[in-house]
Amino acid sequence: MKNKFYITTPIYYPSANFHIGHCYTTIIADAIARYRRLSGDDVFFLTGTDEHGQKIQKKAEETGVTPQKYVDEIVDNAKDLWKSLGISYDKFIRTTDKEHVEVVQKIFKKLYDKGDIYKGEYKGLYCTPCESFWTETQLVDGKCPDCGREVNEVTEEAYFFKLSKYQAKLIEYIETHPNFIEPESRKNEMINNFIKPGLEDLCVSRTSFNWGVPVTFDDKHVVYVWLDALSNYISALGYLTDDDSLFKKYWPADLHIVGKEIVRFHTIIWPIMLMALDLELPKQVFGHGWLVINGGKISKSLGNYKDPREYIETYGVDAVRYFALREVPFGNDGNFSEELLISRTNADLANILGNLVNRTIGMANKYFDGIIENTNVCEDIDNNLKDLALSLKNKVDSNMNNLQISDALDNIFELFRACNKYIDDTMPWVLAKDETKQDRLKTVLYNLIESIRFGTVLLQAFIPTTTEKIFNQLNTNIIDFNSLDKFGYYKSNTKLNNPEVLFKRIEAK
Ligand code: MSP
Repeated sequence: MKNKFYITTPIYYPSANFHIGHCYTTIIADAIARYRRLSGDDVFFLTGTDEHGQKIQKKAEETGVTPQKYVDEIVDNAKDLWKSLGISYDKFIRTTDKEHVEVVQKIFKKLYDKGDIYKGEYKGLYCTPCESFWTETQLVDGKCPDCGREVNEVTEEAYFFKLSKYQAKLIEYIETHPNFIEPESRKNEMINNFIKPGLEDLCVSRTSFNWGVPVTFDDKHVVYVWLDALSNYISALGYLTDDDSLFKKYWPADLHIVGKEIVRFHTIIWPIMLMALDLELPKQVFGHGWLVINGGKISKSLGNYKDPREYIETYGVDAVRYFALREVPFGNDGNFSEELLISRTNADLANILGNLVNRTIGMANKYFDGIIENTNVCEDIDNNLKDLALSLKNKVDSNMNNLQISDALDNIFELFRACNKYIDDTMPWVLAKDETKQDRLKTVLYNLIESIRFGTVLLQAFIPTTTEKIFNQLNTNIIDFNSLDKFGYYKSNTKLNNPEVLFKRIEAK
């Protein structure tokens, strides 16, 4: 039986078109989903959009369209962007989907009936752009700690969710499930800065705007956007609907990928909602860092970004994907710039991978009309390369299990670098001149092609457009995970297809 693996991205606010920071989260989740499929898991990969709330309502008003029309356009744009990035999601959920709205209403009612949601009065400080309530002590210089903008004091009738009731249970859960919050530093931050100082009950409805899910039994209230948004992870699977087969199959989530600033929603409010609903908790919430430009956040509101499609058109989809996956150790913040994108593409994709495939196929064409034959004329020098190829799957697997994606890619490129070195050491052009060495030369080329195949099989999870091209050039369909158990599955006497440049070197700007 296949293992199931349920992975999610955050659902993004469609308040403006998406930037490279949103792509970052989604590319990473996509690579993990693809890797899991490759390694044999039954994967469900969810992404989507978080469409309600005052901020979106305001934006739509400013633009002079209805909120629904406003978000529809951005969602179309987002889906098109995910298509150009090769995002292999299984479902795209929108919080305006009728099915989702109904589930949120049922969840709200269920928690109310249970006594975990009650009516009260809210007095507090609210940051409208961030849709967040803050306490006096959380403010930084009297402003929103996330975005630095002014907060407003509001008083209104509201429903509250009893977070406090579950505080001890939550701490116990986090402490007994050491992998629940990753990386470690974020876990400590949650426990020490947010949970242990004491959880206040959370205001979970608003009356000051109406672009939201109405509370069925009190319809001047709409559901607070985070309660609405977090429910997507179960509504998408049909929880509390007539067909909850996906829910039964895939819940609990194996991995919620989220940005560091929303870890607290996912590790406090979300698990408590699930506890209150008597549901299992997700196995892991991973809080990643931000892509920054010149040290500052890329932000829709600051407007310091280009449409990601411009990068895709200029440098190719896999240059963008590779950058997101390789450049920054997952968990840390990292800089994004076109210069960095160019140098990463040149250094790894053009010089190491592209060059290796091109050189190897070029030699095979020149010496043997593109026929790759395993003549088994082995020498000691071959063992290093074979051992490296054979050890690759385990190394990559262990890094992927720890979400060390950049290291997993480095493992694969270590093999490609070793191939380039193997060419320099075996000097095929010298062998070619010696009549008696033709069979040795054939083996050398076979070993290279087989090693390229090994690396490419694993690379499928990360840069799938390029790997498809490589497999075409190698003229092979032996591309599954299990074909890495033995060195030698590449079929002897295969004729290669013509080489095609995979990545041109890009001139620095
Ligand atoms: N709608 C909420 C999430 C609800 S999930 C139940 C939200 N949306 S968001 O559009 O503001 O952000 C979505 C994700 O994009 C967050 O994880 C955030 O960290 C990520 N990113 C936004 N800008 C980013 C960068 N510059 N770099 C990396 N990730 C970035 O929060």
